Parts: sequence; C-alpha cells; structure tokens
Amino acid sequence: MAKLKSLLALFTLFTILVACSARKTPSTTPRTSTIIAKKTFGNFSGHVCDAERYSQLGMEIKDFAFCDSSLSYQVRVKDLIDRMTLEEKVRQLGDTAYGVPRLGLPLYEWWSEALHGVADVGQEGSKATYFDDIVPGATSFPNVINTVASFNETLWKAIGEVVSNEARAMYNLGHAGLTFWSPNINVVRDPRWGRTLETPGEDPYVVGVYAYSYVRGLQDIEGTENITDLNTRPLKVGACCKHYAAYDLDMWLGANRRTFDARVHQQDMVETFQRPFEMCVKEGDVASVMCSFNEIDGIPACADRNLLTDTFRGEWNLHGYIVSDCDSVKVMFKNEQWLHDTPEEAVSQALNAGLDLDCGFYYKNYTGNAVLQGKVRESTIDNALTNLYTVLMRLGWFDGNKKLEALGKSDICSKENIELATDAARQGIVLLKNANNSLPLNPDKHKTIAVVGPHANATEIMIGNYAGNPCKYTSPINGLSNYAKVEFHRGCGDVACKNESMIYQTMEAAKNADATIVLVGLALEFEREEHDRTDLLLPGYQHQLIEQVSKLSKGPTIVVVMSGGVVDLSHAKHSNDTQAIIWAGYPGQEGGQAIADVIFGKHNPGGRLPLTWYPANYTDMLPMTSMQLRPDDALGFPGRTYKFYNGSTVFPFGHGLSYTKFAYNLKKASRKVDIKLNKFQHCRDLNYTAGMFKPSCPAVKVEDMHCDEHIEFEVEIQNKGKMDGTETVIVYSVPPENIEGVHIKQVVAFKSVFIRAKETATVKFVLNVCQSFFVVNYNAYKLLPSGGHTVMIGDKVLSFPVQIKIKDH
Ligand SMILES: *[C@@H]1O[C@H](CO)[C@@H](O)[C@H](O)[C@H]1NC(C)=O
Ligand SMILES: *[C@@H]1O[C@H](CO)[C@@H](O)[C@H](O)[C@H]1NC(C)=O
Ligand SMILES: *[C@@H]1O[C@H](CO)[C@@H](O)[C@H](O)[C@H]1NC(C)=O
Ligand SMILES: *[C@@H]1O[C@H](CO)[C@@H](O)[C@H](O)[C@H]1NC(C)=O
Ligand SMILES: *[C@@H]1O[C@H](CO)[C@@H](O)[C@H](O)[C@H]1NC(C)=O
Ligand SMILES: *[C@@H]1O[C@H](CO)[C@@H](O)[C@H](O)[C@H]1NC(C)=O
Ligand SMILES: *[C@@H]1O[C@H](CO)[C@@H](O)[C@H](O)[C@H]1NC(C)=O
Ligand SMILES: *[C@@H]1O[C@H](CO)[C@@H](O)[C@H](O)[C@H]1NC(C)=O
Ligand SMILES: *[C@@H]1O[C@H](CO)[C@@H](O)[C@H](O)[C@H]1NC(C)=O
Ligand SMILES: *[C@@H]1O[C@H](CO)[C@@H](O)[C@H](O)[C@H]1NC(C)=O
Ligand SMILES: *[C@@H]1O[C@H](CO)[C@@H](O)[C@H](O)[C@H]1NC(C)=O
Repeated sequence: MAKLKSLLALFTLFTILVACSARKTPSTTPRTSTIIAKKTFGNFSGHVCDAERYSQLGMEIKDFAFCDSSLSYQVRVKDLIDRMTLEEKVRQLGDTAYGVPRLGLPLYEWWSEALHGVADVGQEGSKATYFDDIVPGATSFPNVINTVASFNETLWKAIGEVVSNEARAMYNLGHAGLTFWSPNINVVRDPRWGRTLETPGEDPYVVGVYAYSYVRGLQDIEGTENITDLNTRPLKVGACCKHYAAYDLDMWLGANRRTFDARVHQQDMVETFQRPFEMCVKEGDVASVMCSFNEIDGIPACADRNLLTDTFRGEWNLHGYIVSDCDSVKVMFKNEQWLHDTPEEAVSQALNAGLDLDCGFYYKNYTGNAVLQGKVRESTIDNALTNLYTVLMRLGWFDGNKKLEALGKSDICSKENIELATDAARQGIVLLKNANNSLPLNPDKHKTIAVVGPHANATEIMIGNYAGNPCKYTSPINGLSNYAKVEFHRGCGDVACKNESMIYQTMEAAKNADATIVLVGLALEFEREEHDRTDLLLPGYQHQLIEQVSKLSKGPTIVVVMSGGVVDLSHAKHSNDTQAIIWAGYPGQEGGQAIADVIFGKHNPGGRLPLTWYPANYTDMLPMTSMQLRPDDALGFPGRTYKFYNGSTVFPFGHGLSYTKFAYNLKKASRKVDIKLNKFQHCRDLNYTAGMFKPSCPAVKVEDMHCDEHIEFEVEIQNKGKMDGTETVIVYSVPPENIEGVHIKQVVAFKSVFIRAKETATVKFVLNVCQSFFVVNYNAYKLLPSGGHTVMIGDKVLSFPVQIKIKDH
C-alpha cells in the first residue's frame, strides 16, 4: 500500500508537470478534485443556440447568425469567428477554450478521454470528465491490447458505440465534454514500450482496422454514416487518433519522449508508422488527430507542416482539427529548444504547420504577440478556429440533438453495457498453452482450487491506465468462486514480489487443491506512460512462485498472466509441471469473471496474440532508440515485429489455442492476376538476391494503378471437436522469394467465426491486389511486385500461390 501511495505521489507530480501524463487510481468514493473540475467546466451541458439561454443572458438569439440553423455550417462558423476580436480568438486556442461571454459563447473543455471506457484522465481544472455521486463510474472495458486480441471488428465498433452512449449521457449530466482524445494507435515497434497496453499491437494493418472500427463506433450516428459532405456529417462524440508520428518511446534509460529525435527511414514511415493514421482518417473519418512530443529527423512533430497540413489535410483529406499532445508547444521551446526559438516563434511554427489547438497555454499566452510581431497571420488563426468550430457544429454543441439528449444516468453502467465488457474480456483472452487438454477444468471434479499469486485478487490492476471509475469489479477470486471453492494466497507481498517468504503458504494450498491457478504479471509500476521496460521478465520472485507451486501442485497448474507487454514465459511453456498458460492482459472491470469462464469452459477461448512474444535476450540485441524495423546485419539487429524478425519466439504473433480443433479446406481461389501496363505506367526495379531469377518487369508503382484487381477465395472450416468455439482466421500475404529488404509476411485480412461443434462454416475473403500484395521499397515507394506471391492462413495452416504477372507495354 505504501508503494501505491508513493506511486500516486509520483503521478501527482507528473500531473503538474505535464498534463497528458496525468493518471489517477480509480476509487469508488468521490474525490475532492471533482470540485475543481466542476467549477472550471462551468456545468454547461446543453446547447449553445438555445433561445431561452440567450434571453437569460439578456441577449436575443436572432442577433447572432451563427445560431441560425437555416444557414450552412460554413457561413455560421465564419460569422462566429468574424465577430471575435483577435484577443477573443486567441483565448479559444487552448484545451480550455474560454468562450466569449458577450456573444453568449460558453467555455468549452476540449479534453476528455475514452480509451476503453469514459475516463477522467487529465489535468485537474482543465479536463471535462469527472465522477462524483451523480455519476460514480462508467463501464470499464478491457485495455485495448486485450480487445484487439479478439480480432473481431464488430466487437471493436460495438465497444465504441457503448462508450459513446455513456459519454454522451455524461455530457448531458454536465460530467464530460464531447471531444475524446482516444484511441492511441501507435504501432508497438519495440516490446519495451511502456504504453503497449493502450495500443492495438504491432501490426500496422490490424492497428488501422482497430482504429477506424473504434472511431466509427464512437463517432457515427446511425443513418448518417455515409453522408458525403464531411464538413457537415453529424458526430455522436469526436474521437482522436494519436500520437502522430513515430511515437513509441516514453522513457527508456536516458531517452525521453519529449526530447527524443526519432531518426526514421521513410520506408518505415510509409509502411509502419503512418499507415494506421492514414486508415483512421480515410476509413474512420476521424474528427481529430494529435501530434506527438518527439522530433522526427530533427523537426518536432507538432511543427512539421509536411506531416500535419500536407499529409493529413492534403493527402488524406482530414475533416477535423489537429491538437497537440499536452504542452508539446511548450516542450518545443523549453525542452527541445528547437531552433533556439522564442515562445512566439514556437507558437508561430506550430500554427503555420497546421496545428489548430494547443493542449496547454502557449497558444493562449503567446499567439497575440506572435501576430503583433508579424510572425502569424490572423487568417491562420481563423483557419484553426474554423476547423475547431466546424467539429463542434457537427457534434450538435450549437444546435443540440434530441435523440442524444435523451441519454442519461440509466444508460451508464447498465446491465447490457457491463455484459459487453465481460464478453469483450472473454473474447480477448488468449490460451497460450494447454498440455494434455488440462483445460477446461470441470466444476464437478475440480471442487477446491488454490488461487494464488499477486494478481489473484486483482481489481484496479485489471483496468490498466487511461481509465475512469469502473461500475464495479469482479476480481479473479470473485469470478472463480462462482465455480469452485477458492483457497486464496497472494504468494507475494505485491506485484514486485521482492520477498519469497510468502511462497511457502501457496505451496501448501497447491498440495491439497484439485487444481492450482497462479495469477502473475505486470502492473502500471512496470509499464506505463513515462516508463518503458528494460527487460521482458516477470518481476521479483514471481517466476519462482510459478515453479515451486507447480512442482507441488496436486492437480493441474494453470498460469494466468496479466500484462500489456510481453513476458518471457519460456520456463512455464516448457515445464511439465505447468499444464496451461493464459494471457489475460488487463481485462477491465469484469476480468475475473471472464478468466473464470474460460478456465471452467463456459467460454471457449479464441483470442490471438497481437504481439510477438520475444525471448528475454531480445532486448540485449538492440537499443530501443533505433527506429528501424528491418534487421541490420552490420549492427547485429534482429529486426522487429513478425514482419521482420525471424528469430526464435516464446510465442509468435497470432498464436492462440482453442478447446476444440478446427480443420481447413480451401474451396475456391483465384490464383492469377494479369496486369498489362499502359504507356504511362513504367516498370520499377527491385533488389533481388544476386543470381536469382528476376522478372523482366519486376514491379509497378501502386499509385500508378487503378487498383481494381481482386483475388477471392473461400475456406471451409470444420469444428472437429466436441465444443463450440471461435476460430480466428488471420490471412497473410508473402512476397515473391528473393526480393531483398521486404517483409517476411504481412496481415492482409482477418475474421473471427463462431462454429458449433461438428459444424462447418465457409468464410469468403476478397483481397484487393494493391492493398494486399504491395511492398515498400528502399526509396519508400509502394510497389506491386510481379511473380509468385503466397497467401497464407495462420501459421501455415493453409497456403496457396498467387501469380501476379505484370507485362510491359
Ligand atoms: C448545474 O446545472 C443545473 C441544471 O442547469 C443546475 O440546477 C445546477 O445548479 C448547476 N450546478 C452548478 C454547480 O452550477
Ligand atoms: C464479435 O463481437 C460481437 C459483438 O460483441 C459478437 O456479437 C460476436 O459474437 C463476436 N464474434 C465472434 C466470432 O465471437
Ligand atoms: C452506408 O454504407 C455501408 C457500406 O456501403 C452500408 O452497409 C450501410 O448500410 C450504409 N448506411 C446507410 C445508412 O445508408
Ligand atoms: C500563461 O499565462 C497565465 C496567465 O498569465 C500564467 O498563469 C501561466 O503561467 C502562463 N503559462 C505559460 C505556459 O506560459
Ligand atoms: C480483494 O481486494 C478487495 C479490494 O481491494 C478487498 O476489499 C478484499 O478484501 C480482497 N479480498 C481478499 C480475500 O483479500
Ligand atoms: C518478508 O515477509 C515476511 C513475512 O511477511 C517478513 O517477516 C519479512 O521481514 C519480509 N522480508 C523482507 C526482506 O522484506
Ligand atoms: C517433459 O516430458 C516429456 C515427455 O513426456 C519430455 O520429453 C520432456 O523433456 C520433458 N520436459 C522437460 C522440460 O522436462
Ligand atoms: C502430458 O502427459 C504426458 C503423458 O501422461 C506426460 O508425460 C507429460 O508430462 C504431460 N505434460 C504436462 C505438461 O503435463
Ligand atoms: C535467445 O534466447 C532464445 C530462447 O531462450 C535462444 O533460442 C536464442 O539462441 C538466444 N539468442 C541469443 C542470441 O542468445
Ligand atoms: C537496392 O538497395 C539499395 C540499398 O541497399 C538502394 O540504394 C537501392 O536504391 C535499391 N534498389 C532498388 C531498385 O530498390
Ligand atoms: C529465417 O531464418 C532461417 C534460418 O536462418 C532461414 O532459413 C529462413 O530462410 C529465414 N526466413 C526468412 C523469411 O527470412
């Protein structure tokens, strides 16, 4: 407990220093801090253009064209901005936009978070969301790294829909804003990254699909998803894809995210770092994106016009606003001392680059002077405000929305919402080992179970970070007690497990129980924002706890790991004393129920690892600060993620077992694509291994193609076992052999299907040839190579060749 308190003190310090690192430990009792939040939020929860409101303010609504709903958003937003003085405009450029009393425009807090449930993360006094007696909690879903393990897009969107219902209900109760700076979609380049738990894993395509599914769940209002005028498309809440770009290092040895200069090869930029953001904007139509603290090749991300304006708005057609990570404009001046700028210069660099909103005070404090000094045009500020107010118009902040206004207290923590949280936790659980089919346990046979380990009674640990107050908790011992008599021993004082003297009691319990469940893993003190890991091991004596308990255990020993990042479980994997291993991530408020449902077979697990589980020695081979994903023989770097790492793993990306067996059968498959180039499409060279066959036209640039070629195939999947189950089909493409410097394989599609025992399901896939078979070459072109590609399902469960023939004109 003392450790927890000192940790909290540390967090408080971060809160003061840098807003975005704010983090609090949830509690079910209201905190005093809510008072401050209430005061600054001003309790505004209605809509701006409310005639009664204006008359209470002594004004008439008809005097303000921006409130005239018969006019277009464009005209109304312009009217609003044109009425403001420069000074008034500048006061709207921070996360707390002060409003303009003389225009009846109230204060708006831009900062809310909803990574896996409505969270009250943020700086006291400038966050919109808070919990108190009226709204004591919100549904806490599993952390994103778990949810993504379900490989179920429907689930990802469904969670977004429930979270935005609760968010909108909290707005109606004056307890939240309408703009939520979630999700975090940075690719996990290195297993040491402290924020792995917040993310959808290491594959850029999977991360991108998660991003747009969750964003659509949060933002879309039924019936308006397909409106083509993106400047007026209504929003339920505004989401935000963050942090752009190449941001995946927090605090590792001496390297700090605020000053870290990520040296990025453009090849990796296109292939890995930018791809999820591109998908989030293009497929998700996200209302906002956030730039990161770090520099990329010497330029702070939030001051890079190429990254912000040219790419987001120009190339990808962003309709929304760009916000900074909290205080990153200040960091540019203070920490990075970029170009030895003055604060006014830093502010103008960011505004001119296309950063609309500063989470912090620099814009508000220095933009006025920057205009006076001739560094920023007032029209640049107008553009930023146009992006901001257009989003607020789309959210109904000005006009209201009858249907959404009906959401209230009973829509928060409802029975259905909690059930979805439980189901999400079940879907995200990954069965890593199940020797001799030891699982599931049988409640008639396993009547007394020893439940041991530092996470056996996990509550707060299950909800991870960027969390709010959950509705309630179901801890593992609560969940398991529904099936058997539980004998509980922690085995360690805490998660750090620095004292082995408590292990003895757990051994005694294991000797007498019908089965032993050992709950181990990490916690936020080992992996979090501002804190990367330096190794991949279980903390303290946890490893010894597993070993000693499993040696003496009368029944089977099941190890359950809670962690965001990977841990080296080689020993338990190979040990004949450990029968099963389950990865449960940080499974959210109902995690204990989900774990119990899996262990006792009420739910047959179907989750798959969204990360490569490297052996512990991986971290000795390369520093976290090297950004490249490809192996580097000269430096001895082994490559990163399943796409480029070809070394041994503890468990590979995509690994996950089931209680039943599935058999595959390829039904139909198109295997040939002929592409004839016209005179404006030119053959591109590729590096082939010397002496190996190389097609006469090795490749064509994807951007030169129409990209309307597809290949289709169907697989029949039979559940051969006795239990209903979910099979997760992950489809990869493998480029032709002997092309140098390209990925080993890449995910191009996935689908999870529920199949009853003895039944068969047919799953059809349609792959766009450009999107599924491209490679990124050294010079960062996306190319479609000719030759023999392979489509592969799972870990070579099934594969077939696809011949792409490109003929020159
Ligand atoms: C918040 O708003 C409600 C309804 O408009 C009002 O009854 C209440 O007094 C307000 N509370 C505060 C603290 O301003
Ligand atoms: C995917 O998630 C949805 C929503 O929770 C659920 O209804 C569906 O059964 C899931 N699919 C599988 C195969 O589990
Ligand atoms: C929007 O488009 C999608 C995909 O074409 C379609 O499935 C959906 O029904 C459409 N929604 C509406 C409201 O038209
Ligand atoms: C911004 O100005 C306010 C009010 O003058 C001051 O309290 C605050 O410290 C300033 N913040 C920064 C980051 O300059
Ligand atoms: C489990 O943790 C909860 C919450 O911290 C606590 O109230 C409860 O007493 C613990 N249970 C046991 C058996 O220690
Ligand atoms: C380990 O725990 C035991 C029992 O709680 C305690 O007596 C002992 O002082 C602890 N040792 C250390 C090194 O903390
Ligand atoms: C586990 O048992 C098998 C035989 O059942 C044996 O081949 C293997 O070496 C044993 N593993 C270990 C780590 O002892
Ligand atoms: C599985 O069963 C075999 C044969 O009974 C045994 O040798 C082996 O140790 C068992 N493996 C585990 C991990 O329990
Ligand atoms: C790293 O560990 C793995 C598994 O323990 C082993 O197979 C591999 O040889 C080791 N690699 C090096 C470079 O030591
Ligand atoms: C081949 O690789 C080298 C770097 O190793 C690069 O300079 C060259 O541009 C590549 N050629 C092609 C055709 O991609
Ligand atoms: C992976 O490494 C093995 C052993 O070095 C090698 O035989 C194999 O070709 C490599 N695979 C790829 C795709 O690089």
